[in-house]
Amino acid sequence: MMSASATVPLRRPGTGQVLLTGASGTLGRVLAPALAAAGHRLCLNDLLPFPDPLPDGATFVAADLTDRQALGAACPEDVTDIVHFGGINTEKSPEVILHANILGTLNVFEIARERGARVIFASSNHAVGFYSRSRQSVTINDPYRPDGHYGVSKVYAEALGRLYYDKHGVESVHLRIGSCLPAPLETRNLATWLSYPDLVRLVIAALVAPEPGYAIVWGISRNTRRWWAGDDADRIGFVPQDDAEAFVGSVVSEGGDEVSRAFQGGSHCSIGYSRRD
Ligand SMILES: NC(=O)c1ccc[n+]([C@@H]2O[C@H](COP(=O)([O-])OP(=O)(O)OC[C@H]3O[C@@H](n4cnc5c(N)ncnc54)[C@H](O)[C@@H]3O)[C@@H](O)[C@H]2O)c1
Repeated sequence: MMSASATVPLRRPGTGQVLLTGASGTLGRVLAPALAAAGHRLCLNDLLPFPDPLPDGATFVAADLTDRQALGAACPEDVTDIVHFGGINTEKSPEVILHANILGTLNVFEIARERGARVIFASSNHAVGFYSRSRQSVTINDPYRPDGHYGVSKVYAEALGRLYYDKHGVESVHLRIGSCLPAPLETRNLATWLSYPDLVRLVIAALVAPEPGYAIVWGISRNTRRWWAGDDADRIGFVPQDDAEAFVGSVVSEGGDEVSRAFQGGSHCSIGYSRRD
């Protein structure tokens, strides 16, 4: 296969540093100490300061994802992987999503192309949130059905990953996270839950996989009531261990309206919903 002249050859996993964007956010603060404990050398990035003690060997550099120059300067020269968890984590106006999630993710992929790094991206179930709950076993090969502008930004990132692999050989693993919480809260989470230990297993699997190429993996635990199936988990060796069923007695019934309870994306589906049929 011909290689594009502007792309640096891929570096071997484990030989350099991992840039973690969104490090000061909820999931970033779970991942930072866990990845450091697993032996990864980390450069943490966020707009906001890192609120916890820095993990062993880690550095922190503040930079806005939307400022390519600043993000490039924050990215260590010997970066091998960018674990991209920074950005807006829920539905917002298209203008807000456009900056942090669309432009920010484009900047991440451009830097990955320039440095020969792999991208591990926090995608979301909201890329396919408009599948009905009666539709079981949605796979990564089913068409996108985003449930808002946030979901569209995840579709964009997955498509960008496809483009950058086909055109530039940039590897990326897209983690279609369900609901990553310490424990399931409501009935929907019995299908969508990703435990914190399984999140860590998932990201480490994506980091150490020898040749993931372009991969999409559901970011959920081995939930008995899962809605999603058929992904690239085997290719990266991800084996979830937890099951939301253990919490069946403690979750509360899902609130929301008819629309949110009809579709897999839940409350995101009813935000601004105006169909009358
Ligand atoms: N928590 C979940 O269940 C879940 C589910 C699906 C996907 N995800 C994705 O995982 C990622 C992390 O989620 P989270 O719950 O930890 O979110 P979070 O909001 O707690 O963390 C996101 C971090 O990104 C930073 N950030 C936002 N805009 C930035 C910018 N322009 N430049 C630099 N940093 C910026 C914020 O300061 C914040 O610390 C998000 O991409 C989210 O969409 C999370």
